[in-house]
Amino acid sequence: MPVPTSVHKAVVPAAGLGTRFLPATKATPKEMLPVVDKPAIQYVVEEAAGAGLHDVLMVTGRNKRAVEDHFDRAHELEEVLAAKGDDDRLETVRDLSRLARMHHVRQGAPLGLGHAVLRAREHVGAEPFAVLLGDDLIHPDDTLLADMLTAHARFGGSILALAEVDPAETHLYGCAAVEPTGTEDVVRVTGLVEKPAPGEAPSNYAVIGRYVLDPAVFGVLERTAPGRGGEIQLTDAIHKLTGRTEGQGGPVHAVVFRGRRYDTGDRASYLRAVVQLACGRPDLGPGFRSWLRNFAEALPGEPLPAGRQPAGAPAAAAACH
Ligand code: UTP
Repeated sequence: MPVPTSVHKAVVPAAGLGTRFLPATKATPKEMLPVVDKPAIQYVVEEAAGAGLHDVLMVTGRNKRAVEDHFDRAHELEEVLAAKGDDDRLETVRDLSRLARMHHVRQGAPLGLGHAVLRAREHVGAEPFAVLLGDDLIHPDDTLLADMLTAHARFGGSILALAEVDPAETHLYGCAAVEPTGTEDVVRVTGLVEKPAPGEAPSNYAVIGRYVLDPAVFGVLERTAPGRGGEIQLTDAIHKLTGRTEGQGGPVHAVVFRGRRYDTGDRASYLRAVVQLACGRPDLGPGFRSWLRNFAEALPGEPLPAGRQPAGAPAAAAACH
């Protein structure tokens, strides 16, 4: 359900190289890998549109054609489906081109997420805007983006999304130093560190791929030198906003997300996304869940940890939703 907001535009960076998913991503952007029967990026655009952001700018890299075509009209395909009388599929295909006003810009070279976001400057202008990473899938039933827009209406500035991670994994993420605000699951961000060395993370709150940003971030990004991995890091630019006051690009707050999230650029997380979303689908779920239960029961390996339901028990089906 859209919330009242001054944010109207969404930017979807999808220009990374996707090296963790090679060879599948050699000629296909990782954002186009199917999760059940939709490319990962379609869930992201549906999430933006569902939160009322109907203007979507894709930042694309090599192989951008597939992303562009996916959200465009496909006259030949539509004619074939219409001639067959396959109205359901025809609507599915047509709905895609009506989802949002799609715009595209090329990143040029994959110089980092901060560089990709900077490419959106001309399109976004002087308004606050959302950034949704094209390979970060939030379960369609979770309301993270709407919660962030609500927090933005209340606190202004920029809003991040944080998830608690295992302290042993903080070096894989951007991590936030936070203090309470008095509002449940909204914290004030006082600093950010991109991929901190083991033992140096300010907390185990990791930045995940949804942002509502003050346009002042563009000026900061322009002056942000390449950081970790030689890339221009969005985290480094937002860190600079944490010390600023309202009107200067600050303050920075974050919504703590406790829902379901998948990194579809990571093979194991991608597989979990496919299985979990297939289980929850009304058309595929019933048959797939019973197959999955039998499959899991026949799996060799470790017994389930104490207290966990064996596969086939009613709770196992519920866990799929
Ligand atoms: P990742 O950090 O997952 O980088 O990007 P990557 O290069 O795509 O993946 P690997 O590590 O090689 O497998 C996070 C998001 O930022 C985008 C990606 O497309 C992804 O949505 N991105 C990253 C860009 O758009 N441009 C960049 O230069 C880097």
